[in-house]
Amino acid sequence: MNCLQLINIGSETLKNKNIKSHHLDSEILLSKALGKKREKIITNLNQFIRSSEIKKFNNLVKRRSLKEPIAYILKEKEFWSKSFEVNKNTLIPRPETELLVEKIVNIYRGKPINILDIGTGSGCILISLISELKKSRGIGIDIAKKALFIAKKNSIKHNFRNNIKFYKRCFSNLYHQKFDLIVSNPPYIRSNEINKLEEDIRLFEPKIALNGGKDGLDVIKKVIYKSQEILKINGVLALEIGSGQLKEVSKILKSNSFKIEHKIRDYKENVRSLISRLVR
Ligand SMILES: C[S@@+](CC[C@H](N)C(=O)[O-])C[C@H]1O[C@@H](n2cnc3c(N)ncnc32)[C@H](O)[C@@H]1O
Repeated sequence: MNCLQLINIGSETLKNKNIKSHHLDSEILLSKALGKKREKIITNLNQFIRSSEIKKFNNLVKRRSLKEPIAYILKEKEFWSKSFEVNKNTLIPRPETELLVEKIVNIYRGKPINILDIGTGSGCILISLISELKKSRGIGIDIAKKALFIAKKNSIKHNFRNNIKFYKRCFSNLYHQKFDLIVSNPPYIRSNEINKLEEDIRLFEPKIALNGGKDGLDVIKKVIYKSQEILKINGVLALEIGSGQLKEVSKILKSNSFKIEHKIRDYKENVRSLISRLVR
């Protein structure tokens, strides 16, 4: 069998499982099975494939048919033009989070700041920020030990192990240090919405990274209360929120001495991040 035939078979299998990106996914999985760049494969579609490689490809297609996200199958996801290792213990970094990183980089470029990343997951936010804000230092915390293991690996891979420290900690247990910037993409999905999420997310991404409690605001509220305590005067809280949470979160921020300075919209025009300054 050649590449084209295999891609078509894989694509058809995934299409039958209602996977919208079936053709692209099939190409990506073949490139993983062959250990070759996708571009190389699609410019050489007549290449003959050995049976051991066909077996590998079929296994990958089977995993994707069961709705396992491509990022977990590949064990990596691109974020801020860098490859981040991910696995089932880390949320898969999302493009809307890059928009938050972009805004923060524009605000702080060239300035040396102390950053705290609450719920660091794969470390994608903090590592991307430090890669741009080279004079700055960061601490990433998470309650998921296995996610932190990946975050540390990512900081070593990208050569930032000296500027970033990771700790297994709940944010409510932070007392002694003060930060210029707290950034957080906390869990913000309502508990009763989790069952309605797409299977890729619902069956594979860690619940602890998604579940924001009954109203989706449990963790967000607590992050805001804690940030008041551990931000320096005029410090900034950069928070990703769920679509539809703007009104509620703005109210909580304002009643806790934060002034919203920037609202960041996602590609669908929903406000998905807020940058607020502590004013008192
Ligand atoms: C939505 S994920 C964000 C991961 C990563 N920052 C990103 O943007 O891809 C939320 C993360 O918060 C962590 N988390 C949940 N509750 C926490 C808490 N009380 N203290 C610290 N981290 C927490 C989860 O383990 C998860 O890694």
